[in-house]
Amino acid sequence: MSIRPHAPAPATPAPGKLPLTELAELKARRQPIVMVTAYDAPGARLADEAGADLVLVGDSAAMTVLGHDSTVPATMDEMLILTRAVTRGARRPLVIADMPFGSFQVSDEDSVRNAIRFVKEAGADAVKLEGAGPTLSRVRAIVGAGIPVQGHIGLTPQSATMLGGYKAQGRTAEKAIRLLDDARSLEAAGCFSLVLEAVPAPVARRITADLAIPTIGIGAGVECDGQVLVWHDLLGLYQGHAARFVKRYAEVGDTIRSALEAFAADVRERRFPEEQHTYAMPDEELVTFEAATSDQREQADDRR
Ligand code: KIV
Repeated sequence: MSIRPHAPAPATPAPGKLPLTELAELKARRQPIVMVTAYDAPGARLADEAGADLVLVGDSAAMTVLGHDSTVPATMDEMLILTRAVTRGARRPLVIADMPFGSFQVSDEDSVRNAIRFVKEAGADAVKLEGAGPTLSRVRAIVGAGIPVQGHIGLTPQSATMLGGYKAQGRTAEKAIRLLDDARSLEAAGCFSLVLEAVPAPVARRITADLAIPTIGIGAGVECDGQVLVWHDLLGLYQGHAARFVKRYAEVGDTIRSALEAFAADVRERRFPEEQHTYAMPDEELVTFEAATSDQREQADDRR
C-alpha cells in the first residue's frame, strides 16, 4: 500500500468502513475485490448490502444519469451532489469520487483543492483520476495532501477523442509496454489501486503481477485483482450501445417500464388509488364540512 508515511493523515474513516489497507491484503490473499458505480443513496445502500468493497461515483454519471453523450460535461458541482448522496448510503464500502474532466487538468494546486472538496464537502474516502503522464504530478500532490488516489489507465473516456474513440488500448507490444510503464509510474506516485479499462487480458495480467497495489479491471480479463461494472450496464438500465465487456445481470429497465405502464393504466381506468391508499375523516366532521361548503359546491356544479 503506497500511502506515504510522511503524508498527513487522511480523513478519519467512519465506524464499520473497510480499511483502505485491507485492499492490499485482499490482493495478497488473491481474494477478488468488488467495485461498482453508484450515483445516489439508495443505490449505494444496495451496493453495501450486496457486499461491494468499493463504490465508485463515476463520471459515467454524465451519461447514465444526466443524459449526456460522453463523460466530459460532468462538473464538480454535479459530482459533489452525487458523491454526497452516495456517502450517505454506503457504510462499509470505500466511496471513491471520480474527478471530472477539468477538475485536475489545470494544475496540481487546483487538483488538490478539488480533491479536498470531495473529502470535506461530500465525505468521499478517495478520488480517482484518469491518465498517466501529466496526471502523475496531480496524484503525488493529492496523495501528499492525505487523500488516497485510484488511478485509471487503458481506455480513459475523458480523453476518448485523443484515443480515436472508445477502443481497447494496449493492443500492440509497444503500447502494452507503455501501459505497463504508466502503471508502474502511477504506483510510484502513490496510487492505492489502479483501474484498467479495455486492455487485453494478457497485458492486464502482466500489470497485475507487476504491481503491489490492486488492479480493478473493466474489460481487462479475469486476472485483475478486482472487477468493476457501471450500475446501469450491470442492471440493464442503460439503453445506449453496450461495450463488449458489459454483462447485464438483470433487466431492471424492463421491470420499471412495466410497473410504470401498470400505474398509468390504473390511473386512466380509475383503479388507483384504492380504499387502502385513501384517507378518511370522521363522519361528523364530513357532515359539517359538506354543510359549510354546500353553497360553494352548488356554484362549482353550476360552473361545470
Ligand atoms: O466513470 C466510471 O464509471 C468509470 C468506471 C468505468 C471505472 O470510470
